[in-house]
Amino acid sequence: MTQLPIGTVFGTTEPAELNAAKLNRHTFWCGQSGSGKTYALGVLLEQVLLRTELPILVLDPNADFVRLGEPRAETDAATAAALRGLDVRVLHSTQRDVGEALKVRFLGLSVPSKAAVLRLDPIADAEEYNMLLRINRFAEGFDESTYMSTLRESSNPAQVQLAMRIENLQVMEWDVWSRGALAATDVIAERPRVTVLDLGGFTHPSEPKAAALAVLEQLWARREERRPILIVIDEAHNICPPNPQSPVERALTALVQLIAAEGRKFGLWLLLSTQRPTKIHPNVLSQCDNLGLMRMNSPRDLLELSEVFGYAPEAMVQASSSFVQGRALFAGGFLAEPAFVQMGPRLTIEGGADVRVPLS
Ligand SMILES: Nc1ncnc2c1ncn2[C@@H]1O[C@H](COP(=O)(O)OP(=O)(O)OP(=O)(O)O)[C@@H](O)[C@H]1O
Ligand SMILES: [Mg+2]
Repeated sequence: MTQLPIGTVFGTTEPAELNAAKLNRHTFWCGQSGSGKTYALGVLLEQVLLRTELPILVLDPNADFVRLGEPRAETDAATAAALRGLDVRVLHSTQRDVGEALKVRFLGLSVPSKAAVLRLDPIADAEEYNMLLRINRFAEGFDESTYMSTLRESSNPAQVQLAMRIENLQVMEWDVWSRGALAATDVIAERPRVTVLDLGGFTHPSEPKAAALAVLEQLWARREERRPILIVIDEAHNICPPNPQSPVERALTALVQLIAAEGRKFGLWLLLSTQRPTKIHPNVLSQCDNLGLMRMNSPRDLLELSEVFGYAPEAMVQASSSFVQGRALFAGGFLAEPAFVQMGPRLTIEGGADVRVPLS
């Protein structure tokens, strides 16, 4: 049985370990701002990288994981060498001048996802939607500019209207589109040990969501290949909120619900991190069989957690309100009994550290 050491059982020197085999379930990671969720997530992911062969995809809105794979100076030499040897692919939106850029293909999106990006409704915008559907059949292999000129120069008014919509929304100008360059979906399809999507640097608020939609849609479309992947979503309330607002957000939330409900048997395993359980769609939350809980103050949130995660004893959940940073409760399939844990140190460098108050 492969165990992942993540720290010590609180109040003892006994190692605290999670059962790697049970990452074939969905996991919920929760705690208030600053409680150490992202740090603790890093501790777990490092062990997954070192002790298993499970590929990881990280949706990283704050560039927290862009240095996963760069050992700290104090990490022992053998571990550091193992970490350096990993195939870590970081796709950037924030640091555009370093490494690979995070891009996805507009034309690679499904018709419903393209429609969501273009705010097209199949009933209210029947003609344009139908044109999108029909042009999709012959536009395969087109690049974006051929697609646009075909629409624009068409004698069919619905095609011209669709071109006008795309131009008016200025969607094609988004930085996230690959325009022939390597797309994140291609990188992920190769299953590097870890692919980090640094999502935070785009201008339009829908761009990071379109990127998430493109990669998750691709994983779902190819689910029958049954190639396992741990899909880590930090700040998951941006990806599957209970009340999605924009069409892209609605499409993304629906997709995450689908993966939460049915992805498990295809090897699509979610690890969702957020500050409050109510910020995640309930259909997603209820599918999580593993829980990592850091400090949480709000009595309402604690009650909600006890209700949804019946396997975490209520008294232990309540105790999280007095946790200091580094303390966590783990419960569910990935350990035999619920346990309080003192998290161990990170082995790799944290990316986006807290901004410090300038002091004289
Ligand atoms: N166990 C730990 N040991 C040392 N430092 C820690 C530990 N946990 C957290 N920290 C530090 O505390 C700060 C906040 O932690 P972190 O970013 O993980 O919180 P968070 O719960 O993800 O917060 P947010 O919800 O705002 O993203 C970071 O600078 C991190 O380095
Ligand atoms: Mg965080």
